[in-house]
Amino acid sequence: MLWHIICMANVIIRPDWFLPESAVTPEATYSNRRQFLKTMGLGAGLSGGVLARDAMAAATPAENLKRYPGKRNAKYSPNFRPTTEVWGTGYNNFYEFSTDKFQVRQLVGGFRTTPWPVTIGGLCKKPFKMDAQDLVAKFGIEERVYRFRCVEGWGMILPWSGFSLRRLLELAEPTKEARYVKFTTAMIPAQMPGIARLPQYPWPYTEGLRIAEAMHDLTFVATGIFGKPLPKQNGAPIRLVVPWKYGYKSIKSIVKIEFVRNQPKTLWNTLSAVEYPFESNVDPAKPHPRWSQATEEMKGTGGVRVRTLKYNGYGAVAGLYRR
Ligand code: MTE
Repeated sequence: MLWHIICMANVIIRPDWFLPESAVTPEATYSNRRQFLKTMGLGAGLSGGVLARDAMAAATPAENLKRYPGKRNAKYSPNFRPTTEVWGTGYNNFYEFSTDKFQVRQLVGGFRTTPWPVTIGGLCKKPFKMDAQDLVAKFGIEERVYRFRCVEGWGMILPWSGFSLRRLLELAEPTKEARYVKFTTAMIPAQMPGIARLPQYPWPYTEGLRIAEAMHDLTFVATGIFGKPLPKQNGAPIRLVVPWKYGYKSIKSIVKIEFVRNQPKTLWNTLSAVEYPFESNVDPAKPHPRWSQATEEMKGTGGVRVRTLKYNGYGAVAGLYRR
């Protein structure tokens, strides 16, 4: 509490999305890298469309590497400069490994992410199982630069690669009874040392969305970040990104997606429904019971705090919540 008061007393309010020049990845560095990869032939033919390929043909991580970086989708990528890669891939919440954000990347070495069958089932007409690499080959990838806001009061701007969740869900043809989508992370205690250290947690990590939220254009299946396949600490090989909700809804290393009738139990909501409500839309006016959500620290800026925006700036989703 004391820490919190001290911290909040030092808040500097800047204009929305102010980032000092010195604190973010220079755009030139970022685009030069993309240009370099293209020149090397690694960026060829990377449209976001479905590729003409048998969905069941086994794609390998090496083959899929050629798809990165995906073509940036300007519609979903305002002119933000991403947070530095050092922060984006080195400061991670992944409790299956550690609660220490700087430690996670040191602990993922033994985590095996190939092969990675993902099951899509529940209340749908065409349930299926497909390896994460085949999903990448089937749907192709595009890049979207999204704001990311953790419930703990920090934010980043991250260039994700992947495809919209809706395309994947539509393939399974959900029935009318399906009202929610439930997501489940792999639970492999032998490879995930954090699980045994938190025996009171209701593992595996689960999350959920209302079906309209899951089908929204902004809801993204990420298979990559910073123009490369996802590193393990960021939730390889596939994770969710829901940019208008607090980061814990963006579940990592997904193995199961289910259409369900009732609101699914989720890990954080089971631990504390008051602190982690199911809906969890970013809202500066609604404090967390233990801290304000009015501002956030932009990681990689040397501690600059900016005002938090309703729906994390994604006002286009407001229609989902008109009751
Ligand atoms: N998914 C799983 N399986 N386990 C986790 O601990 N942490 C969540 C979310 N997804 C988490 C998870 C939280 S609290 C945040 S803020 C984001 O992942 C962090 O994603 P990042 O490490 O890529 O920044």
